[in-house]
Amino acid sequence: MSQAALPVMSERSPGIAVSRASPVSVLGAMVRNPLDALPPEIFHEPLVYSRIAGSRRILITDPALIHEALVRNADSQLKGDDIRRTLGPALGQGLLTSDGAHWRWQRQSVAPAFRHERLVGLLPAMIAAAERTRDRWLAPDAGPVVDIGHEMMHTTFDIIVETMMSGPGGIDVARVERSITEYLHPTGWVFALSLLKAPEWLPYPGRRKAAVAADYLRSAIMAMVAERRRTGEGREDLVALLLAAADPETGRTMSDEEITDNLITFVTAGHETTALGLAWTFHLLAGHPEHEAKALAEIEEVTEGGAVRPEHISRLTYTRQVFSEAMRLYPPAPVITRTAARDFPLAGFTVPAGTITVVPIYAVHHHTRLWKDPERFDPDRFSPEQAKGRHRYAYMPFGAGPRICIGSAFATMEAVAILAVLLKAARLRNTSADTPKPTMKVTLRPLRELRMRVERREVPVSAASP
Ligand code: HEM
Repeated sequence: MSQAALPVMSERSPGIAVSRASPVSVLGAMVRNPLDALPPEIFHEPLVYSRIAGSRRILITDPALIHEALVRNADSQLKGDDIRRTLGPALGQGLLTSDGAHWRWQRQSVAPAFRHERLVGLLPAMIAAAERTRDRWLAPDAGPVVDIGHEMMHTTFDIIVETMMSGPGGIDVARVERSITEYLHPTGWVFALSLLKAPEWLPYPGRRKAAVAADYLRSAIMAMVAERRRTGEGREDLVALLLAAADPETGRTMSDEEITDNLITFVTAGHETTALGLAWTFHLLAGHPEHEAKALAEIEEVTEGGAVRPEHISRLTYTRQVFSEAMRLYPPAPVITRTAARDFPLAGFTVPAGTITVVPIYAVHHHTRLWKDPERFDPDRFSPEQAKGRHRYAYMPFGAGPRICIGSAFATMEAVAILAVLLKAARLRNTSADTPKPTMKVTLRPLRELRMRVERREVPVSAASP
């Protein structure tokens, strides 16, 4: 059937679940925690249609429909107003937030930084950063309890600036971390106001602080870019790739502003997500000592009781499964959205231009039709045998289609390296028996700090485990 002949999708379409939640309750939930604004039906239906304040939204969790929307019809979908209003003030028109030709040449320009051979060459820097965190934890004057979220942000930030920008230069690391939190804090308001199509100048709680934070992030990075351009230092990093990039169609190069857009994008997208994934991983492992023991036994076997080295990382398959399963339960980027630039076909209907497509990765990963006992933490779900029968888009922490995360291999390598170094050296225990609620601030953060007690692991695990 041609697309023109397909009926237009609406709340009256047969076989389509419709969210009946009141706009007031959805908007209220969105301000508090956008995860709570997801219609409950989406955890067991393949597609839910919703209309709020005139905005048409379709939420999809069915893997085949996700493929249709994000891969087959990728050209009809733009990042849209939600993303531009939420992230634009900090990330400008960088790789994550741009569309069309501007997105394409930026993606091509930075791709060499993510080739496999280059990533493998970054492993020593990743391991070294994890070892610095280990040494800080085990120093004689260190306190016994850490905020694991903060610790992981510190470690992954170290790694991203070391590997992508050849070091922090004059950037104040603690202030950057604080700025990102302050910037993301009021994003629930931004989502809600964007849904209402409210004017962009409208004030909301936290707006001023967020603007100051964005200004700091941009000015710190801008100064670093100007310095690199001035000195012309020939390092082999992302900054050098961006300085040398030329649009294949026009030959134009990037302005300092455009390079800044991309560096902020990589610094924020490239450390916060991995850090959150790791923080949830440590929290889950502490609550499941049997999986922790299995990961440790693997690490000890592969490293033969010695230090973690770059060549060990690809062999730590169970440790990688643990990280994958933690990101299933707590996907660091829990929701992705697109706005239809033109009509496109989906599930036998025409979705009209202007419709917002929401792929709630969090709901995909907890979906009762896709996962047996979805709330259970079970890293064996990612064993080669169990993963074989699964639809490619039943699990998608890094997204799907042409806009898939460019840093997925980087993040996975980094996470496994950090887990290996830290699990070997320390036993981490949750200081509170309950798990904090996950809350969405663009990324999935714990509602309260994940505080953990650090104990030095004295006995090699191979000797200690039965
Ligand atoms: C566990 C860690 C990570 C997770 C869960 C994650 C998740 C994602 C997701 C879901 C997207 C797609 C967004 C969309 O379709 O709207 C994305 C895009 C992106 N990610 Fe990641 N990411 C992670 C780590 C990284 C790292 C380490 C880097 C860089 C070093 C990075 C850089 C980016 C960039 C630049 C984009 C935009 C790509 C484009 O639009 O072409 N991410 N990420």
